[in-house]
Amino acid sequence: SVAPILTKLKKDCATPLPVLRHVADAMASDMRAGLAVEGGSDLKMILSYVDSLPTGNEKGLFYALDLGGTNFRVLRVQLGGKEERVIATEFEQVSIPPELMFGTSEELFDFIASGLAKFAEKEGGKFNLPDKQTREIGFTFSFPVQQTSVDSGILIKWTKGFAVSGTAGKDVVACLNEAMQRLGLDMRVSALVNDTVGTLAGARYWDDDVMVAVILGTGTNACYVERIDAIPKLQCHNSTFGRTIINTEWGAFSNGLPLTEFDREMDADSINPGEQIFEKTISGMYLGEIVRRVLLKMAQAGELFGDSISEKLLTPFMLRTPDVCAIQQDTSKDLEVVGSFLRDVVGVSSKLSARQIVVEVCDTIAKRGGRLAGAGIVGILEKMEMDSKGLIFGKRTVVAMDGGLYEHYPQYRTYLQEAVNELLGPEITKNIVIEHTKDGSGIGAALLAATNSKYGHNF
Ligand code: BG6
Ligand code: GLC
Repeated sequence: SVAPILTKLKKDCATPLPVLRHVADAMASDMRAGLAVEGGSDLKMILSYVDSLPTGNEKGLFYALDLGGTNFRVLRVQLGGKEERVIATEFEQVSIPPELMFGTSEELFDFIASGLAKFAEKEGGKFNLPDKQTREIGFTFSFPVQQTSVDSGILIKWTKGFAVSGTAGKDVVACLNEAMQRLGLDMRVSALVNDTVGTLAGARYWDDDVMVAVILGTGTNACYVERIDAIPKLQCHNSTFGRTIINTEWGAFSNGLPLTEFDREMDADSINPGEQIFEKTISGMYLGEIVRRVLLKMAQAGELFGDSISEKLLTPFMLRTPDVCAIQQDTSKDLEVVGSFLRDVVGVSSKLSARQIVVEVCDTIAKRGGRLAGAGIVGILEKMEMDSKGLIFGKRTVVAMDGGLYEHYPQYRTYLQEAVNELLGPEITKNIVIEHTKDGSGIGAALLAATNSKYGHNF
């Protein structure tokens, strides 16, 4: 019957304070292990080679490419220095065609380059740059890349359901350059950054207190500002400001997470079993799928939606996180929105009691996700606090957030903030500002392209 399934789910997903504490501590110690030696932990702790953050003085016209989990975006940004700041921006966005996620590397990079070429043709108006000057690009590439410099890096592996053949092990900037050459497009990548790094740079441009950036969207990840002397694996590296940004790739974290049979089965059926366990537990690509698996088991137990099992419920990834979120927003007495969703999308009729259970399942999975994300953030902050002897908690510190999950799911946001409050207590929490910085990563990449421009716009 359904009741024991729900009881067990709630028990397995529970995140009381000791569980949160364990996750935060494990995050901090995995970070240290990953900084000590290459391959020292699940967390890759990738050097971004971004050693200087935007100052506000950046000037000139720059392009940005932003390949996230769901969308591909091209941007044009005119930077005007301290006084004028961002003079103008324009962007175009398309969702990434699903077939490209399973195609070849050439197909994906041709798609990116041709989007860029079409966009660049329309330059003019508020934007200006001497005609002959090569346009420079900040490239936000939201996958784990072993950076070899600020403008080159090798794709370690795909995540978030991408299975493009022929890119892993290659320099993604070289892949893009080849595609641009095929089109005769003369542009140059000046900075290659992870989306977290772009977000941090973009947010920092407006606010010096930004020290951490987190993405909670299709996938999840975090980066932060680290002291060079706290990175033992870094043998020789010159950074004028003594600090650099580390891309944690925390999606791969797995230490002590409260997991269920549904998580284990979803992982086993995924295209990357055993990998990205934190991401599979807390990020947008997976929350809906976990809920579907729970509801399927309940339906098979025979009581939730009557006797028949809907075809839809048997279809992997049929339930998406935005659906789960919409279900939680239903405040009507009879849960009418949930009822019509179940009827129209899932193809089942439901009694009020079944709808209530559906809401509870969604809430259980969102709550676990949000609270674990909060614990992860606290882990990063505690690591920084301990190594900087009090420079994080004793003053205003900003965590810049981006991604569709954080932006659109209010309950998830609340659960995240509650976990942070529980772990840090009111005195410290009042100094920690978790702030949504929408679309910061594209502007951030353009700013980093300016910082690393070969024309020296940055003065
Ligand atoms: C966007 C950023 O706002 O959020 C991207 O510009 C980032 O760089 C993306 O990858 C993540 O969110 P989602 O929901 O698209 O995965
Ligand atoms: C995945 C990618 C990571 C990215 C994150 C958020 O975890 O591996 O690089 O930052 O998704 O988009």
